[in-house]
Amino acid sequence: MTRLVIRIGGSVIASPVNIDLMNKYAHLIEQIRLQGHEIAVILGGGTLAREFINIAKNLNLKPDAQDRIAISVSRLYAQLFMEKLGNLGCGKVATTLDEAAECFVQGKIVVMGGLKPGHTTDAVGALVAERLHADLLIKGTDQEGVYTKDPRKFSDAVKLDEMTFDDLTCVLEHSEHKVGIHQVIDSVAIDVLKRNCLKLIVFNGFKPENLLLAANGQNVGTLIQR
Ligand code: UTP
Repeated sequence: MTRLVIRIGGSVIASPVNIDLMNKYAHLIEQIRLQGHEIAVILGGGTLAREFINIAKNLNLKPDAQDRIAISVSRLYAQLFMEKLGNLGCGKVATTLDEAAECFVQGKIVVMGGLKPGHTTDAVGALVAERLHADLLIKGTDQEGVYTKDPRKFSDAVKLDEMTFDDLTCVLEHSEHKVGIHQVIDSVAIDVLKRNCLKLIVFNGFKPENLLLAANGQNVGTLIQR
């Protein structure tokens, strides 16, 4: 039995909304729970969050307010997912780490969106993993894993099978939070994972079946550890 935090990128299930993929993830997560693993699922806000961020920007709202709007959108996706999980979930999207911990001790699947302004749901995944003493954080994103440079911009980018958190920091384009940022993982998450000696697997979220393999310890993308 392992304690898993599964972070599904909004770029995967919500850009645009992919009902089929959401159904597949719900089914797989149910299977993983029935295998005996303990699970927290963290969902991002996808393009709808970015649309609302733009509205907030155009209304001249400050970055913290823009973040809060995006957090609300991510929680909406979390609610959809939580409802889909039925009795396996706690019946409420966790909005604090305390609520996540309470849900977890009841043996239920924790479902969360954003937590607070200033970072992305990657950091939420890492903070939840820290709080729940998880064994592994798994992130499904829109690439096969982590590359030497941004594969969307550079055709000579090479995918890495394994790396350290220090290597990962070097390939990040931004080390500071920008509202609505999209990069492989955020730097707050890296700090939290590093200080807790946690492991992270980044995999292609459009191949959800890899989640089962990752949950059982296989490296299906890039394995990052200290
Ligand atoms: P994410 O960037 O985590 O969503 O949150 P995503 O769609 O899953 O992103 P990808 O797929 O990894 O690119 C959307 C935005 O919500 C705000 C941030 O502005 C973030 O960029 N947010 C989210 C917060 O401010 N705090 C949180 O705890 C979570």
